[in-house]
Amino acid sequence: MNVPLLDLKAQYATIKAEVDAAIAEVMESQHFILGPKVEQCEKAIASYSRCAHGIGVTSGSDALLACLMAEDIGPGDEVITTPYTFFATAGAIARLGATPVFVDIDPSTYNLNASLIAEKVTQKTRAIIPVHLYGQMADMDQVMRVAEQHKLVVIEDAAQAIGAEYKGRRAGSIGHYGCFSFFPSKNLGAAGDGGMIVTNDQKRAEKLTCLRGHGSRPKYYHKIIGGNFRLDALQAAIVSAKLPHLDSWTAARQRNAARFDRLFQDAGLVASGAVTLPTVSMDRHIFNQYVIRVADRDALQASLKAKGVGTEVYYPVPMHLQECFAYLGHRAGAFPESERAAKETLALPVSPEVTDEQARYVVECVGAAVAVNQSPVSA
Ligand SMILES: Cc1ncc(COP(=O)(O)O)c(C=O)c1O
Repeated sequence: MNVPLLDLKAQYATIKAEVDAAIAEVMESQHFILGPKVEQCEKAIASYSRCAHGIGVTSGSDALLACLMAEDIGPGDEVITTPYTFFATAGAIARLGATPVFVDIDPSTYNLNASLIAEKVTQKTRAIIPVHLYGQMADMDQVMRVAEQHKLVVIEDAAQAIGAEYKGRRAGSIGHYGCFSFFPSKNLGAAGDGGMIVTNDQKRAEKLTCLRGHGSRPKYYHKIIGGNFRLDALQAAIVSAKLPHLDSWTAARQRNAARFDRLFQDAGLVASGAVTLPTVSMDRHIFNQYVIRVADRDALQASLKAKGVGTEVYYPVPMHLQECFAYLGHRAGAFPESERAAKETLALPVSPEVTDEQARYVVECVGAAVAVNQSPVSA
């Protein structure tokens, strides 16, 4: 049996008419840069995230970069974040000449351990970027408490977490900014790159709108230095066409996650300690990824691959050990939970298209592999 990690062709087959119509409309209008489709998408995503403003940008990476630029963060500034994330989070900080300051993760949620933030705050700290990894929000009460105490800006990296909730509040709506990615593998993916920033602050929204068009206002008069961070009208139209399906896709992911939980428990793999399931501690986990922890992750991944099961490692090298960040001077062992997670975690297929039969097959294959080559992990 073949179980792909993600089957975008299968998803497209269910929404082809709507997506094709949205594309055709843009082609007929020949309005490709900003304009009504982008504005419509911005309003829809802002409203979905329960925020006042949405600013469509080129990608989730540029969303983070633009927010840091809007705060004039640069050389001499420090930004606190997690080392266990996609590169873009730390990369955006470093690209502006600021210093990423890492705090280790909570081993149960893989999100930054917010209780460790305060001790990393210095005179130079300007912002915190909590990442809502895999689709579950970080502990935002603690993050906001430290931020308010030290007057820091909070940029939520919600690239993997559109629609996730923390105590009834949506991802992106708690910090000063929320950044989304429409990378195709996200729960709400475009047909290429795309992203969105949401905020409740009108002044910040205005500055971002200016920044994403080279800081030009009016046209060809540049008060600030920005970049070309504009969301394409075609991508905006596709994202808007897909948005009405997002809640049902999220519900299917949640059902698939609950089914995996049940199947792993029934197989005795949880009680034996062979498999550690994802911990859901926030209100609404949207399961962009369903990630288990096992002792010999690489052997499990190889075994699943041989049996036709697609998996992925998010992420094999934490940021503090990346070659490009050697100048920060971190050594192995500096952030032990991030390093352990990087060795032990594996994302399984949880997309809405995964069937009951496929899920059973995946659990069977995991069971067979861990029986052969694994000893229990400490959770
Ligand atoms: C946590 C995180 N931050 C940032 C990004 C960057 O988003 P993009 O790929 O749209 O630039 C991604 C997605 O790839 C991500 O997963």
